[in-house]
Amino acid sequence: MTKIGYVQLAPVLGDSSPTIGIIDGLADEFQEADLVVLPELCNSGYNFTSIDQARATAEDAQNGPFVQYLHSLCIKHNQHIVAGINELAEDGKPYNTAVLLGPNGHIGKYRKLHLFLNEKDIFAPGNLGLPVFDLGFCKLGMLICFDWIFPETWRALTLKGADIVCHPANLVIPGLCQRAIPVHALMNRIFIVTANRVGQEGDLTFTGLSTMANPKGEVLCQAPETGNHVAVVDVDIALAHDKMITPRNHVIADRRPEEYTELTRTVPGEHP
Ligand code: ACM
Repeated sequence: MTKIGYVQLAPVLGDSSPTIGIIDGLADEFQEADLVVLPELCNSGYNFTSIDQARATAEDAQNGPFVQYLHSLCIKHNQHIVAGINELAEDGKPYNTAVLLGPNGHIGKYRKLHLFLNEKDIFAPGNLGLPVFDLGFCKLGMLICFDWIFPETWRALTLKGADIVCHPANLVIPGLCQRAIPVHALMNRIFIVTANRVGQEGDLTFTGLSTMANPKGEVLCQAPETGNHVAVVDVDIALAHDKMITPRNHVIADRRPEEYTELTRTVPGEHP
């Protein structure tokens, strides 16, 4: 069995130090997890009004202070952590990124492909594709918040072999994503961990209800709408290897991709 978990909290806008204090206060509750997921933009908060404000709190995805702090937890707890960070990249641009860390440090990262509303004014769009990392005990993909509404992302990660998708989030539309998570898990026969944030920044209220779902589409646990919350559950990762939905139906092999060629065609339109 593998222990997977989420940490729901309210990252502080513009300063990672108090957020590190909050995570430290919750660390005892997730110390036994093999893999734990934290929300989107955990080192910086979310609701920036300018690129300069975002850049001021962005950090290197390997050596930044927040990432180094998370690495120290990975060593202390002998665990893996996925966390959303505001990344300052080599090109000088901020990216909305998820990092994957283990006891030996930085393993990989994913940069958010589908930017939500005003994020389009702040962050550069993701340019690292949809990587899957083999950790030995599981194959892991990452998505960030609004990516959830694109079924292609979950499917692509499944086709690349992901058993589990870690999904740091700062969800603001009440309830929608949380309802979709078990459905994406069911349709791809994968585990999903959505670590959402809570609290308020300006006119935005974040919706909590962090969720874990299994390949049967069952909700394994869900956090409250408000407040810090940690959950760790035992799962059998091998369940994600069984893609049979009936004794005669395999959700991947039964597909008819020759009928889905529209999926790779770009649709012209306004994307301001
Ligand atoms: C979101 O993508 N943070 C809503």
